[in-house]
Amino acid sequence: MDIRFDNKVVQITGAGSGFGQRAALEFGKAGAKLVLSDINQSGLAETMSQLAFGPDRAIAVACDVSNPGEVAAMTKAGIDHFGALDIAINNAGIANELVRLCDISLEDFDLMMAVNVRGAFLCMQQQLNQMMVQGSGVIVNVASVAGLIGAPYLAAYAASKHAVIGLTKSAALEYARKNIRINALCPASCHTPMVDQVLQGDKGEKRGQDIANSIPMGRLGSADEIVHGMMWLCSDQNSFTTGQALAFDGGLSAA
Ligand SMILES: NC(=O)c1ccc[n+]([C@@H]2O[C@H](COP(=O)([O-])OP(=O)(O)OC[C@H]3O[C@@H](n4cnc5c(N)ncnc54)[C@H](O)[C@@H]3O)[C@@H](O)[C@H]2O)c1
Repeated sequence: MDIRFDNKVVQITGAGSGFGQRAALEFGKAGAKLVLSDINQSGLAETMSQLAFGPDRAIAVACDVSNPGEVAAMTKAGIDHFGALDIAINNAGIANELVRLCDISLEDFDLMMAVNVRGAFLCMQQQLNQMMVQGSGVIVNVASVAGLIGAPYLAAYAASKHAVIGLTKSAALEYARKNIRINALCPASCHTPMVDQVLQGDKGEKRGQDIANSIPMGRLGSADEIVHGMMWLCSDQNSFTTGQALAFDGGLSAA
């Protein structure tokens, strides 16, 4: 990608795996200063080691996005270190095993909402407070195509991603005149550890084929395709897009 983010401070949650790790590497290559966080400290350490940046270019902060104190501390650590927060990618999230709605436990439902919805909400509160002080900012919430259409056997996940889009659109309207753009990115299934885990087991190969067949382009996406969309959404060249839930889904939501 030839979009540059030189000296922009970019905060990425869930940076220890999948899209978040890929985003850290790509934004890093594009010149950004990185505030990386994850609940999984070994994944985060792996991302930092792949980047091989000094503290002038990247810091790693362990953070559970569902914990208000940890989110506040992580955001403050980035601002104290780099002096600003230009771009925030709220990417941390969890999915569930494929299961009918009636078989989802209350515990699993609550965990899904805590990480995917409360996590994005808490991060946005901290980020928007700083962006208001600066008078500028860009937020991308990583939702899902399951936030746009129904997702059988993923009801709790789909509900959480619909909620992320609701937060995105509402906040975008509240901050549209404050020079802060807020969009949601909605991927269909891509090969990351999250999806590969769902596709494990005896029926995994068939499920993978079924997913590919359900996507008009006939295949799963790649992390690079999603991260390139993310970078375009964040770019200054894309200065008139806010409040959108943009699908990167091989045509799935058009069907
Ligand atoms: N992979 C896909 O096909 C796909 C499709 C649509 C949307 N998404 C969304 O993209 C985002 C990234 O998913 P991925 O596929 O890269 O998954 P992944 O499992 O590879 O990465 C998710 C990261 O989030 C972290 N995380 C989980 N709970 C956390 C918490 N409480 N606090 C902080 N970090 C936490 C994990 O440790 C992990 O490093 C998620 O929000 C997911 O819902 C993924």
